[in-house]
Amino acid sequence: MYTGLQHLHSYIAYLVLLGLIISFLAALAGLFGNRTFSDKDRKLSLLGLIPVHLQWVIGVILYFVSPRGLPNFSGEAMGDSVARLYMLEHPLTMIIAVVLITIGYSRAKRMLGKNAGFKSIAIFYGIGLALILLRIPWISWPGN
Ligand code: HEM
Repeated sequence: MYTGLQHLHSYIAYLVLLGLIISFLAALAGLFGNRTFSDKDRKLSLLGLIPVHLQWVIGVILYFVSPRGLPNFSGEAMGDSVARLYMLEHPLTMIIAVVLITIGYSRAKRMLGKNAGFKSIAIFYGIGLALILLRIPWISWPGN
């Protein structure tokens, strides 16, 4: 089960980045093009939200079964930057990113017909994407 989840988490990471980049760029285009945020735009922003939510659920399960996750949690592992990344920094930062992205989507959903919907997506997805990029374990992904 562990290997299957690890591979799934690794593959969905591509969808997460792709979905967030597309949603973020579309929101910037709408924002600066002075368009109103329509239901079609809301649906497009789901491209960023859905893979992130899927990844979050898989990540939490992985955290309990991976030897790099909770089973590795110790004071000693805290002193090792790679171990700390997997057992603490990556999960915590990703959870914050997921919460921000969800807030951005929920706010935008209530702003249909207004340009501000694009602003909500651009700001919250933008910060979420930056956090994800900062704490992806680039040492092991996308493979070396
Ligand atoms: C939502 C955005 C997330 C993204 C984009 C993401 C991405 C990644 C990537 C690319 C890897 C490296 C995979 C590899 O080396 O093949 C990884 C590993 C890992 N992630 Fe995430 N992750 C996310 C969320 C989470 C969350 C919320 C948790 C836990 C609460 C989590 C726990 C883990 C663990 C434990 C590993 C190490 C797995 C192992 O190799 O044993 N991830 N993640």
